[in-house]
Amino acid sequence: MKGESVAVRRLVKRYGSVTAVENVSVDVKPGEFLSLLGPSGSGKTTLLMMIAGFELPTEGFIEVGPMEVTHVAPNRRNVGMVFQKYALFPHMTVNDNVAFPLRMRKVERAQMQRRVREALTMVQLEDYGSRMPSQLSGGQQQRVALARALVFEPPVLLMDEPLGALDKKLREQLQIEIKTLQQRLGVTVIYVTHDQEEALTMSDRIAVMDKGRIAQIGSPTSLYSEPASPFVADFIGKMNFLSVEYLGSEKTGHQIRVAGTSQLSVTRPLNGHAFELSPGMSLRAAIRPENISLTSRGTGGANAVPGTVDTSIYLGTHQILLVNIDGRSGAPLHIHASAGRDLSTFTRGDAVDVLFQAGAIHLFPGKGGDR
Ligand SMILES: Nc1ncnc2c1ncn2[C@@H]1O[C@H](COP(=O)(O)OP(=O)(O)OP(=O)(O)O)[C@@H](O)[C@H]1O
Ligand SMILES: [Mg+2]
Repeated sequence: MKGESVAVRRLVKRYGSVTAVENVSVDVKPGEFLSLLGPSGSGKTTLLMMIAGFELPTEGFIEVGPMEVTHVAPNRRNVGMVFQKYALFPHMTVNDNVAFPLRMRKVERAQMQRRVREALTMVQLEDYGSRMPSQLSGGQQQRVALARALVFEPPVLLMDEPLGALDKKLREQLQIEIKTLQQRLGVTVIYVTHDQEEALTMSDRIAVMDKGRIAQIGSPTSLYSEPASPFVADFIGKMNFLSVEYLGSEKTGHQIRVAGTSQLSVTRPLNGHAFELSPGMSLRAAIRPENISLTSRGTGGANAVPGTVDTSIYLGTHQILLVNIDGRSGAPLHIHASAGRDLSTFTRGDAVDVLFQAGAIHLFPGKGGDR
């Protein structure tokens, strides 16, 4: 089995007045693991169903490898699909469920039995062939669904929240199994999830979807460090947002007013589309919890503002401090202290200086949304 490329060109899907997918183009490389990540209703399933052939696009076209498949029937696309609800045939044994795609393709009996056995071995269920789906756990049922999708050795595998119904521990175990299998087989995977951690751990690239469009596509690290919009910044990882006022630019960077007389310098280039800065305009500043630090009041130096500790939460591997900037309303800032950054001496009510890394502050146009 070898992965094929998938090309989606200006794809649109309308249901009456609802536009579920709006002008989506994406190139998936052979053997790549691409996740579609986005909130409920953002068009993830619709996009996947069009690639699988269960929905017809209103506009645009789809290629798998060198072949245009926009109007080709699902079982002729060489695309395997795993749905959120396992969707096994309840009246068939595990063996018959896995054999189903081979029967559809009229594979002869001896070869069929061999391939079913191989597929079940792949998902570690070789001894479960004669059971009925109702006699399996949720995780086992999802493994059977995976075996059924892989048994005809499709070069492309589509998965729609395949682990959504499972508990956290089983989900993490199957994430590793799927990723290992995908790399071993070299199959191209398009994987729908609304769990950002799952997308971050499994994907070569992530397409973040918002209202039927791809808001941004890139590697997990590039989306995390270079979000193009507040939406993406907020969706991938924890981000603090502050509404600030732009004061002007100096050698030390863009100057912003955070509260009262408290100012910060920003040395990061502006995000996304260039926009005009003019003194007095409202901006949204965004910074990750690991890019803020604390020292005792009066010792913060250049890029610090006075604040007060609200809450300190110990979480084993790391600690979270919630801190209010003096004179600013809105939700407290989240600060992460992990190995090597001991903030355990700070407790509620402490007067502190809050240090911002000037190169880690993102500026976006617009106002509001202090979080
Ligand atoms: N058959 C349909 N008829 C009408 N509207 C539909 C249909 N299928 C989907 N939609 C609408 O299209 C939009 C996208 O739906 P879709 O199922 O693709 O979202 P999703 O990102 O998969 O969401 P979720 O995370 O909840 O599964 C939604 O507004 C939905 O209500
Ligand atoms: Mg969906």
